[in-house]
Amino acid sequence: MKIMKKLIAGNWKMNGSLAANQTLLQELIEGFPLQPACAVAVCVPAPYLAQFRALVQALPGLSAIDLGAQDVSAQVSGAFTGETSAAMLKEFDCRYAIVGHSERRQYHFETDALVADKAKAALAAGITPIVCIGETLAEREAGRTEEVVKRQLAAVIHTNGHCISEIVVAYEPVWAIGTGKTATPEEAQAVHAVLRAQLKAATDHSDRVKILYGGSMNAANAASLLSQADIDGGLIGGASLKSKDFLTIIAAASA
Ligand code: 13P
Repeated sequence: MKIMKKLIAGNWKMNGSLAANQTLLQELIEGFPLQPACAVAVCVPAPYLAQFRALVQALPGLSAIDLGAQDVSAQVSGAFTGETSAAMLKEFDCRYAIVGHSERRQYHFETDALVADKAKAALAAGITPIVCIGETLAEREAGRTEEVVKRQLAAVIHTNGHCISEIVVAYEPVWAIGTGKTATPEEAQAVHAVLRAQLKAATDHSDRVKILYGGSMNAANAASLLSQADIDGGLIGGASLKSKDFLTIIAAASA
């Protein structure tokens, strides 16, 4: 029997402003249970890491929310214009870094191997990578879901060896992201079970690995998704920008 706190992580994507972020974070901590029964994080655009860190001083309640980045370089330092290293993220107290989000795979041509290297760079700096995997609509319709997600996860397992028990996996079917089309709880659970079995074969500590679901998770559908045996939390896009919705999802994960 797994005894593990669920994790609800907001992925703000390329949204926000200094003023909007402050309002959102203030609303979140005002509505926040004193001792949330799940872990909560927000993954903010890189320029706002410093703002979050400064706000933790001003708003002590904010320390109940962990900070995450949306990407990290696979490189340690040097001539890599535009990249942010894991050591830099660590300086801003980032606990998590999303790697391999489908938007980065699609628009920035990130390969399975690069995503695995990014996960490794994060782990080396003491940051937990949230490794995103998921099939496209065409792949699902061709019956290739299992093959695709297993290939994506296998690359990360191959590169990270026994450290694999330290990662978080996020299953995000590409066709469900930002579309309002959610995988049914049963569809999501079926894929999570496949991933759990793959992790089990790779490490004795697979029960430590949280497998989040992402893709149009919202206040209305969170409870049924989160009630599935192998869904250990959520990676939330649009609904993480609305404090009321995000708080409802946090409550659903705390039930
Ligand atoms: P939405 O919740 O907006 O569908 O986004 C999901 C996602 O991509 C989280 O990383």
